[in-house]
Formats: sequence, C-alpha cells, structure tokens
Amino acid sequence: MEVTNRYITIRTHINHGEPNESHFELKTAAFGLSVELGSNDVIVKNLYESIDPYQINRMKSYSPSQKAINFAEGIALGEIDAYGVGRIAASGNPKFEKDDLVAGLITWGEYSMIKDGNMLNKLDPLGFPLTYHVGILGFSGLTAYGGFFEVCKPKKGEKVFVSAASGSVGNLVGQYAKLFGCYVVGCAGSKKKVELLKEQLGFDEAFNYKEEKDLKSTLKRGEMLEVAVSNMNTFGRVAVCGIISEYTDEKRAVPDMLDVVYKRITIRGFLAADYMNTHADFMSTTCDYLRTAKIKALEDITPGVESIPSAFIGLFHGDNVGKKIVKIANE
Ligand SMILES: NC(=O)c1ccc[n+]([C@@H]2O[C@H](COP(=O)([O-])OP(=O)(O)OC[C@H]3O[C@@H](n4cnc5c(N)ncnc54)[C@H](OP(=O)(O)O)[C@@H]3O)[C@@H](O)[C@H]2O)c1
Repeated sequence: MEVTNRYITIRTHINHGEPNESHFELKTAAFGLSVELGSNDVIVKNLYESIDPYQINRMKSYSPSQKAINFAEGIALGEIDAYGVGRIAASGNPKFEKDDLVAGLITWGEYSMIKDGNMLNKLDPLGFPLTYHVGILGFSGLTAYGGFFEVCKPKKGEKVFVSAASGSVGNLVGQYAKLFGCYVVGCAGSKKKVELLKEQLGFDEAFNYKEEKDLKSTLKRGEMLEVAVSNMNTFGRVAVCGIISEYTDEKRAVPDMLDVVYKRITIRGFLAADYMNTHADFMSTTCDYLRTAKIKALEDITPGVESIPSAFIGLFHGDNVGKKIVKIANE
C-alpha cells in the first residue's frame, strides 16, 4: 500500500543567526507502507514531534556539539530526524508489531522509515496523554530532574534561580524546586509568561528579563549567566543544560571568574542522557506528582507537519510557553 507523505527538509545549513522559513522546505512524496521481511526496518506513522532548540546546532555545517553524542550529530541537507511519538504502521522487526506505540527518533514528517528500528522504543503511556511522553515524561522532564537533583544537589530552603523559566525544561525545574522546598525565582521574556510563573506554577518571584532594570543595570539578553553568577551565594551551583542565545550568536558568556573563585561556585554543563540511571526515579516521582496534581504539564501544541518550521523558529523568539510540540496526526 502507498500513501502520500508530507515532510520537512533542510535546504541549507544554518551557520549564522536564527533559523527562518527559507531554510526549510515542505515536500510531498509517495511512501510505501511495507517493509522487507527480515529487514528489521519499521515504518512509523508520526503522531507528535518534540520541537527542540538544540536541533539548530545539528543544522550547522560544523558545531563542536555534533561530536558529543549520537543524537546531536550533524544533519545532512534533506530529511530531519527528531524525537517524537508515533505508531508502528509496518514492521519487519521482531521488537515491534503493527499499531504499537513508540517513542524515539522519527522524522519531521507524516511517516518515518526507521532503519533497523534504531533509537526507537515501545511506549507504554501509563495512562497519561501521549504528549506528556514528548515533554514532561520525556527528555525535557529528565533534563529538569537531572539538572536540579543530580547537578545542583539542592538542600531544602535554598534559593533557586531558573532562566527561560516558562520554557519546557525551565518550568519543570521551578516546579520540582518548589515541591522540594526551595525558594524559586524565574525569569522569562514577557509579562504574560511572568504572570504564569507566579500565578499558575507557584514560583515565589519572577521577572521579565527584557525589561528588568534592578537586577543589574547591564541585564539584557545574552548576559544572564554573568548576572546570575554575580548575584550568587557562596558554594552556589549552576546547572547548564543549554545556552540558547549562543546557538544563534557569536557572542559568548563571560562570568566573572573572581566571583567563581571567591564564592566557590560550580558551573557544570550536562546532558539529559548522563542521567539515564535516574530514569526510574524520575518517572515514578513525576508520575506521582502528575497523578496527585502537584505538578502541571505546560504544553504548547500546534497542528500539522507544515507548522514544524514556524514552531522551531518560534523557539528563538520566545513564542512558545512550555513544551513546544507539533501534532502530526490524530491518535
Ligand atoms: N542538555 C540537555 O540534555 C538538554 C535537553 C533539553 C533541552 N536542553 C536545552 O535547554 C534549553 C531549554 O530548552 P527547552 O526545550 O526547554 O526550550 P524552551 O525553554 O521551551 O524554549 C526556548 C526559550 O528560550 C528563550 N529564548 C529564546 N531565545 C533566547 C535568547 N536569545 N536569550 C535568552 N532566552 C531566549 C525563550 O523564552 P523567553 O520568552 O523567556 O525568552 C524561548 O521560549 C535549551 O538551551 C536547550 O537546548 C538541553
């Protein structure tokens, strides 16, 4: 059987500045819904795509991040792979049967042909919406959990500052920190986002970093790390999961190293994958919080494969509130 597959391709590498619509193209092609027996290949009908800032580093001709781990490797011009949730449409792989739900690396399209079923796992939704497995119960959640509990090793009553706090990872860091018993301050890029943090997510304080004058007179985009470090207490810990302003700008953060030394501050980068050993704890804690309505899943979902480029571009303009997801098809 054959269907029509609509999918997004990348036309040119994005070596400078922000992504824009001209970097992408929506294509349509006939797509066979069968796999060779014994091939181990699977065909996935894509349902939800995770829209993630780090993908821009994969879209450059070169970025040091591309060598770090297999899912960060460079994308060749053409089809784009990304994390998502889907349903098996055909399988030559004994691990999967038709109609199984799966999560893993699919493509920015309506259907994905996954060679050897690599980087794909069966998904048990555990009674939660499938979108949760792209966001709060997916890598955003694990990043927030690993960054907060494993990198920061918090103590109750400590003060926590979260940047990009209304984003997918940030809002969860703030919610975990509140539930753990910390005093939580977040920053975000609009009045609406600031209100959401304080009124719906329980942050103790929040501010719009694009307008704030008080924190430090120089506070503006791209200088958050410097300002945060200069305001930190002794023995503070900074968990760096990403630095979005630097994905599209040559400018680099320069924290005052005298502050780092004399306040004995730890600044540590990390990847969610470093904390797969905490995955079972992360899932049981977060599922409990969800079932008892102690934590909120903040999602920002747009429909249709054609909206993937604008959803992705919007991340770099702060258009999203919470986890950005594109819904490709009805479940
Ligand atoms: N290490 C890992 O394993 C891992 C895993 C997941 C994500 N990450 C990283 O974590 C960070 C957050 O990811 P996410 O998926 O949760 O995205 P997100 O926060 O949901 O979306 C990105 C947000 O960043 C803010 N932003 C955009 N451009 C900015 C700029 N130039 N300066 C300051 N802020 C800017 C915007 O919020 P405002 O409106 O508030 O500006 C935007 O909504 C990213 O750096 C991502 O690469 C790392």
